[in-house]
Amino acid sequence: MIPVIASLAALRQAAGVRLRLLVMLSAGLWLLLGLATGLTRLGWGLAPAELSALHGPLLVAGFLGTLISLERAVALGQGWAYLAPFLTTVGAALLVSGRPGSWLIVAGSLVLLAANLALHRRQPSISSSTMALGTLVFLLGNLLWASGRPPGQVVLWWASFLVLTIAAERLELSRLRVPPAWSRVAFLVCVILLLLGLWLQSALAGLAFLGLTAWLGRFDLAWRTVRARGLTRYIAVCLLTGYFWLGLAGLLLSTGGLPVAGPWRDAALHAVFLGFVMAMIFGHGPLIFPALAGLRIPYRPVFYAPLTLLHLSLAVRVWADLAGPLELRPMAALGNAAAILAFQACMVLSALLASRAATGRPEGRAPLPPTQPAAQTAFARLDRPDPPAPEARQTPGCARATEDP
Ligand code: HEM
Repeated sequence: MIPVIASLAALRQAAGVRLRLLVMLSAGLWLLLGLATGLTRLGWGLAPAELSALHGPLLVAGFLGTLISLERAVALGQGWAYLAPFLTTVGAALLVSGRPGSWLIVAGSLVLLAANLALHRRQPSISSSTMALGTLVFLLGNLLWASGRPPGQVVLWWASFLVLTIAAERLELSRLRVPPAWSRVAFLVCVILLLLGLWLQSALAGLAFLGLTAWLGRFDLAWRTVRARGLTRYIAVCLLTGYFWLGLAGLLLSTGGLPVAGPWRDAALHAVFLGFVMAMIFGHGPLIFPALAGLRIPYRPVFYAPLTLLHLSLAVRVWADLAGPLELRPMAALGNAAAILAFQACMVLSALLASRAATGRPEGRAPLPPTQPAAQTAFARLDRPDPPAPEARQTPGCARATEDP
C-alpha cells in the first residue's frame, strides 16, 4: 500500500512540475512577443503593428505577472493559487488573439492578492504586507486599464507593483544583517510616498523610488554577499547594478515627471523595467527557474555576459534618449533584447548541460529538487554572506536548489 501511495505522490509531483513548466513556457512566449512588439515600436517591424499596443501588458502582466503568481502559488502550496498564473497567461493569449483578455488579467491579479494575503496571514511582517500592497497596486492598475485607460496611463502602477514586490523581498532578507529599527520606519515612509505618488503625481513616486534606492543601497544584504564567490556574487552584482537604474528612474521621475510621450519617458520607464526589473530576473533566474520547473541550472561565469550587455545597451539607450542622437535608440534597444535572449539561452544551456551530466552518471538522472511549500518572499532565497559551496539554498519561498561552486 505504502509504495502505491508513494508512486501516486511521485506522479502527482511530476505532473505538477510539468504543468508549472508549461506555464513558464507560456510566460516566456509573452516575453518574446513583448520584446518583438517593443522593437516594432522602434521601427524594427518584428511583430504585427496591431500588437504594438500590447507591449506593456504582455511584458508586465503576461510575462512578469504570470511568473510572480506562479512563484507565489508554489510558495503557498495550495491549488487555488495556481488560478492566478493560469488567468494571467490565458488573458495574455486572448489579448494576442484580438479578444478581450484584460478582465482575466484583473481576475488573475485578484487571486494573486488573495495568495499574498494568505501568505501574510501565515507569517505576518512588514515585508509580506508590502508584497500584498504591491499586488493591490497591480490589481488597481489592471482595473484602470481594463476599464479603458491606455497602458501608457497605468504604467506607473505596474512599475510600482514590481518595485514594491522586489523591495519587500529585499527587506525580508535584510533581516539577516539586523538593520536598526529606524530602517523599517524609513522603508515604510518610502512605501507611503509611493502610494501617494500613484494618486497625486509621478514626481512623488520618483522620490519614493529614490528613497527605496537609498534604503537598498544602505541596508541590502548584497553589499555583503558581493564579497562571496560564484552564484552568490553574481546575484549580488545583478542586485547592486539594478539599484543604480532604480535610482536613475527615481531621479528622472522626480525631476521631469513622466511625460505622455517622448524620449524622457522612454528613459524613465526602461530604467525601471529593463535596468532594475530585468536585472533582478537575471539574478534570480538561476534560483527561481529550478524551484519552479524542477531543473538544475548551475552557475556559470558566462552568466555575466548577458548582464553586461543589458547594462551597456541600456546605458546607450538612455544616453540616446536624454542627450545623444535618437537614431542610436533602435540599435541600443536591439542590444536590450539580445541581452534578454542571451540570458534565456544561458539558462537553457546550463540546464541542458547539467541534465546531460546527470544522466551520464551511473546513478542516472539527478533527482528533482523537492518543492517546499510556504516560505515568504517572492524573488527570495537566502543570500548567505559566505556560503560553503556547493550549498543548499532557500529559493523564492518555494523550493530548494543547489548551487555549483
Ligand atoms: C527590447 C526591449 C524593449 C523595447 C525595444 C521597448 C520599447 C518600448 C517603447 C518604444 C515604448 C513606448 C515608450 C513611450 O511611450 O514613449 C515602451 C513602453 C513600455 N515598455 Fe518597453 N521596451 C522594451 C522592454 C521592456 C520591458 C522588458 C518591459 C517590462 C518588463 C517594458 C515595459 C514597457 C511598458 C510597461 C511601457 C509603457 C506602456 C506602453 O506604452 O505599452 N519594456 N517600450
